Amino acid sequence: MKRILVVHGPNLNLLGEREPQVYGTVSLEQIDRELEAFAKARGVALKTFQSNHEGALIDFVHAQRRWAEGIVINPGALTHYSYALRDALAAVALPAVEVHLSDVQAREAFRKISVIQPVCLAQVAGLGWKSYLAGLEKLLEHAQVTHLTQNTA
Ligand code: DQA
Repeated sequence: MKRILVVHGPNLNLLGEREPQVYGTVSLEQIDRELEAFAKARGVALKTFQSNHEGALIDFVHAQRRWAEGIVINPGALTHYSYALRDALAAVALPAVEVHLSDVQAREAFRKISVIQPVCLAQVAGLGWKSYLAGLEKLLEHAQVTHLTQNTA
């Protein structure tokens, strides 16, 4: 897997100053930079995108569907109710990993439900900004396992 989308949903542009006790003090720009370095060291190209608008996120996923081979996505609050974003991920049929900085299972009841999870390979949550790194790693591992099993079938 050589081309991956990193998609950030609503309010994540304010990371670093937004509820730092919940989401930490690292900015989105810093996270994207860390991910770029991690990916580059593995020969992987990233396209990163953030929007506060559901439709813009969907448009981005659609527009990049032929370029991308996988998706790391933090849908923000859209996680909990956006059937449209879920359908977009299902429609493009790319392997995707859902990530969250906070431990969504340990917070308010409405955060325990993800309508996105069923169309993702895995959910990584609660590791702060490093959830993104772990998510990217999981996606790459999945690609490797798929490749190996396809080659031995
Ligand atoms: C979040 C968790 C969501 O519940 C919340 O709405 C966010 C951020 C996280 O990364 O922990 O905006 O996705």
